[in-house]
Amino acid sequence: MKLLVYGAGVCGSLFAARMYEAGHDVSLLARGGRLTALRRHGVQLAEGDNAAVRRVPVPVIEHPGCEYDLITVFVRTHQVDAVLESLAGVQGDVLFLLNWAAGPESLGTVIGHERVLLGFPITGGAMDGDVIRYRKSSFLTRRVAMPIGEPDGRTSPRLERIVRTFRTAGINAKAEPQMATWLRTHAAFEVPLGQAVQAAGGPEALAEEPDAVRGMLHLMRQNLAAMETPPVPRAFAALRALPQGLLVAGLRRFLKSPTAVHSGLNDPSPAMAAELEHLTEQLRAPARAR
Ligand SMILES: NC(=O)c1ccc[n+]([C@@H]2O[C@H](COP(=O)([O-])OP(=O)(O)OC[C@H]3O[C@@H](n4cnc5c(N)ncnc54)[C@H](OP(=O)(O)O)[C@@H]3O)[C@@H](O)[C@H]2O)c1
Repeated sequence: MKLLVYGAGVCGSLFAARMYEAGHDVSLLARGGRLTALRRHGVQLAEGDNAAVRRVPVPVIEHPGCEYDLITVFVRTHQVDAVLESLAGVQGDVLFLLNWAAGPESLGTVIGHERVLLGFPITGGAMDGDVIRYRKSSFLTRRVAMPIGEPDGRTSPRLERIVRTFRTAGINAKAEPQMATWLRTHAAFEVPLGQAVQAAGGPEALAEEPDAVRGMLHLMRQNLAAMETPPVPRAFAALRALPQGLLVAGLRRFLKSPTAVHSGLNDPSPAMAAELEHLTEQLRAPARAR
């Protein structure tokens, strides 16, 4: 598969390295200092706090070529508009693997509706200088599949092909028939979580502030209540149905877990704050405006 990976941060770099090692024709698009570092050292990966750094020589480019079998976009929500403009003249299906609560319409308006697929990366990690420190996988994280879907929920031949190709490369992907709702549900949960983590100074610090966790849960419930459809996955309905005390205890346990501590949530960068702000706006927009 001739693949363009657009965005060379945490998720794009991890994905590009995996696909390159699986033998695909991968180009990783980067900019600025990240481009220089990647050209010099390749993608540098380390598991958790491990001192050992592995280098993967993924080919790096500054501008997209003309045509790909698939373009995967791994940028922050507020960075999508610029990417869309630069992809308007490039051929190939475009799979957006990022936080996006605004539905597929606005994406298709610029690049063509028939090109759009939606998904979400399940990897977690953070940049440590030029090194990507990815979350150590566990029994639990290995069971979570990367959801990918057509905007209209169909199981199309191209969706099946993409899922198969990713799986062959060792990425646990699955077809998700309600991907836009999945992403909106995820944002309804992640925006209050990310903002509370940032305000507290990290997941473990937030776990020590039960009032802040209660406030965060209140906002999650408000977001879920404002959705036009039931949440996807349905398990998120538990956030509205279960007693507050039980949920606060569960959320505090989660915040102390390695999954939360080594996730992208623990990112104090301006990009993370800007993404959360943009997602908040997307959640506020009524369905017909999306
Ligand atoms: N990190 C995680 O653990 C994690 C887990 C699940 C989901 N996600 C979601 O996945 C998405 C990607 O996250 P991430 O952690 O990979 O973000 P990230 O580390 O900030 O990476 C985004 C990369 O895209 C680059 N970029 C943005 N616009 C560009 C453009 N026009 N041209 C070239 N490069 C461009 C950025 O460059 P600059 O730095 O120069 O802007 C950066 O290198 C986000 O929606 C995030 O919320 C993240």
